Amino acid sequence: MKKRLKIVKRFEKREKSNYPGFKIRNIFARSHLWKWAWGAGLISSLSLVFLLPPTSEITFFNKLGMIILITFFVIIFFIYLWRFWVQFLIPKPLSLCAILIISMALMGRIIILLPQVSNYFIPIAFLSILGSLLFAPSLSVLVTLLFSILFSINAASLNLMPVLVMGGIVGAYSATFVHQRTDLTKGGLYVGTSNVLIILAVGLLASYSFDHWDLLWGMGGGFFSSILALTVLPYLETYFGITTDIKLLELGNLNLPLLNRLSIEAPGTYHHTIMVASLAEAGAEAVGANPLLVRVGAYYHDVGKILRPHFFFENAGAGKNSYHSKMAPNLSSMIVISHVKDGIELAQRNRLPQVVIDIIGQHHGTGLIAYFYREALKERGEENESIHEENFRYPGPKPRTKESAIVMLADSVEAAFRFSPQKTLKGIHSQVKKVVNNKLKDNQLDECDLTLGEIARISDAFVRILAGVIHTRGRYPEEMLKSQSVVG
Ligand SMILES: [Fe+2]
Ligand SMILES: [Fe+2]
Repeated sequence: MKKRLKIVKRFEKREKSNYPGFKIRNIFARSHLWKWAWGAGLISSLSLVFLLPPTSEITFFNKLGMIILITFFVIIFFIYLWRFWVQFLIPKPLSLCAILIISMALMGRIIILLPQVSNYFIPIAFLSILGSLLFAPSLSVLVTLLFSILFSINAASLNLMPVLVMGGIVGAYSATFVHQRTDLTKGGLYVGTSNVLIILAVGLLASYSFDHWDLLWGMGGGFFSSILALTVLPYLETYFGITTDIKLLELGNLNLPLLNRLSIEAPGTYHHTIMVASLAEAGAEAVGANPLLVRVGAYYHDVGKILRPHFFFENAGAGKNSYHSKMAPNLSSMIVISHVKDGIELAQRNRLPQVVIDIIGQHHGTGLIAYFYREALKERGEENESIHEENFRYPGPKPRTKESAIVMLADSVEAAFRFSPQKTLKGIHSQVKKVVNNKLKDNQLDECDLTLGEIARISDAFVRILAGVIHTRGRYPEEMLKSQSVVG
C-alpha cells in the first residue's frame, strides 16, 4: 500500500461553484448570522478562559488587550476557513473546531496557572495532531501559531513561543505519516524531541541557565499530547462521523472479518476486488483524488455478493453461469442488482463509514446490465414492449464524488479485462477507452466533478497497471475465455 496519505474529504464536500470567491461583503449576508454567533461564542469562551480567575494584577487595559488579541485570533481563523476550507464552514466541523480550541485553551491556561508545572508542558501538539488528522495540516499549523502567541503572551514568556510553534508544527506534520493509531505515540516522541532541542537552543541563544527539569517537562509535553490525542480520537471520529486516514487504514486490513468472509465465500469477487483496488488507487493518484479512500471503497464495493456468491460470474468458474441459465433474465438481473443494496446493509451492520457506504451504493450508478437485457430481448423478441430497459438498470445514484467514479471505472475496466481474449497492450488500450466511453455515453459520470482531462489520466493509469499484469502473468488460454461474458 502506498505510504503517502492524502487529506480525506472528511465532511460533506460542497460545490465550489456555490462559493464565488471570497468577498468581504459576503461575510455580512444574513445567511451567515449563525457563523457570527459561532465566532462571538468562541471569542467569549476564550476570553473567559484566558482572563479567569480575576486577580488584582490584571488591569482593565490588560483585559482589553487580551480580548483584542483573541478577537483577532478568531477573525484570522475564520477568514482562513472562508478562503481556503469552505467545506468546514458548516455546523458539525465548526462545533468540533470550537471544542478542540476551547479544550486546548483550558489545558494551556491551567498549566500556566499551576506553579508546579512548567509552561513547556503545554500540550500544543494535542491540538495540532488532532487538527491535522480531523481537518487539514495547514489549518492545524495556523491555529498552532495563533495559540503559541496567545500562550506566550499570557505566560509572559517569549522563550515559550518557539517551543510551542515548533512542537505544534512537528505534531501536525508527524500526524500525516500515521499509519496506525499507535504511530501517534511516535509523533509524541518527535514533538518531545523537538521541544527539548528548542528549549536548549533558546537557552543557548538567550544565554540563560535553564533548569534541566524544563527539558523533561518539554519531553513529557510531547508524549502527553500524543497520548491525549490517541485517547480522544476514536470518540471524536464516532460522535462527529469523521473518517480519518487512520480509520481508513484500519478498514483496509484484508484480515478484517468482512473481507475475510469475502475471500472464503466469494473468492472470485475477492480477487476482482483486489484488482479493482489497485486500478482505482492508481487512478486516484493520477488526478489527486484520495487514493486511500478509493482503495478501501474498492475493497468493500462488491461485499454484497457474499449473500449469493454463485450468482456472479467471477465466482461461478469457467463456462456459462449455471444458476442464471435456469432463470428468467429479469429475475437474474434483480439478483445481480440486489448486491448493491445488500452491500450497503452489510456495510451499515459492520459500521463502515458513510464515505465507504456511498462508494458501495454508487459503484454501478444507474448502469444497464446489458447481458441480461440482451438475453431478455432474445427470449421475448426485440419488439416485445413488456421488456423495459429500466428494469435492467441499477437504481443508482450515479457517482457523486471523484472517488466513487474512479471505483466505478476501475470496476468495469477490471471486469472487461478479465474476460477479454485480447490481453495485449494495444488491446488493453482500446478496451479501457471503450469501457470509459461507454460510461460517458451512458451519462454515468454526469454527477461527479471529473473533467475529461482527468478521465484521460485515469484511463492511462488503468492501462499502466493492466500492462504490468499481462507482463507478469502471461496470457490465459484462449479457449477458457471464449465462452465468458461480462457482468461487473
Ligand atoms: Fe458491483
Ligand atoms: Fe465489482
